Amino acid sequence: MEVLVLPTAEDVAARAADAVAAQVSRRPHTVLGVATGSSPLGTYRELARRRTEEALDLSQLRCFALDEYVGLPGGHPAAYAEVLERELAGPFGLSASRVRVPDGSRPDLAQACQDYEDAIARAGGIDLQLLGIGVNGHIGFNEPASSLASRTRVKALSARTRSDNARFFDDPGDVPTHCLTQGLGTILEAREVLLVAQGRHKAAAVAAAVEGPVSAMCPASVLQLHRKATVVVDEAAAGGLA
Ligand code: F6R
Repeated sequence: MEVLVLPTAEDVAARAADAVAAQVSRRPHTVLGVATGSSPLGTYRELARRRTEEALDLSQLRCFALDEYVGLPGGHPAAYAEVLERELAGPFGLSASRVRVPDGSRPDLAQACQDYEDAIARAGGIDLQLLGIGVNGHIGFNEPASSLASRTRVKALSARTRSDNARFFDDPGDVPTHCLTQGLGTILEAREVLLVAQGRHKAAAVAAAVEGPVSAMCPASVLQLHRKATVVVDEAAAGGLA
């Protein structure tokens, strides 16, 4: 695992955008795993800027989201399908068919999870997976105590994650209780992973992920087992590192 500590959140976004741009220039049809939440937004905006101002061609990307809420009404602004349409597909110039999100509205959620795994496999697997990290060490919505070998499945969201994500909803009571998420085993199969974290509130989780034991109690620590994992953090998020 490589850890890069950069002065600011803007530097983190620029460095992550460099990694995506380099990957896309090697392979325009890159299969990109994409996170939602606040952490990757600077990266997406920087990539969109390079597309507009520097003619970076992102149009051949195929993207797979990490996760989605269960049971939000279609078109809900906090649904990750909507977030990725707004923050990624539109600004990157991608047709909707190039951005896949697990379908949390299907009656048979287990089948939706299997179909998602199958779609990733049919695309040839994920070349580069972008990740954020929860304050409790989750990646995707793999909450503490998730199996390190888990696959895409239904998970209950922890009280901590529901309260952290309440900021995206009008009413905290509207935050769904369940989600579909790629498993830790699914994430580990990506050929490369890049985790970004910014801010002091992420410092303990980053330290546990990078320097703690590999443990289901800090799901991000599983990245220590990955052959090509990079963690890019600003100085505030690095504050807990030895
Ligand atoms: C979202 C996801 C989550 C977030 C994490 C951090 O798709 O997979 O693991 O990356 O909850 O969220 P933010 O970036 O909002 O602090």
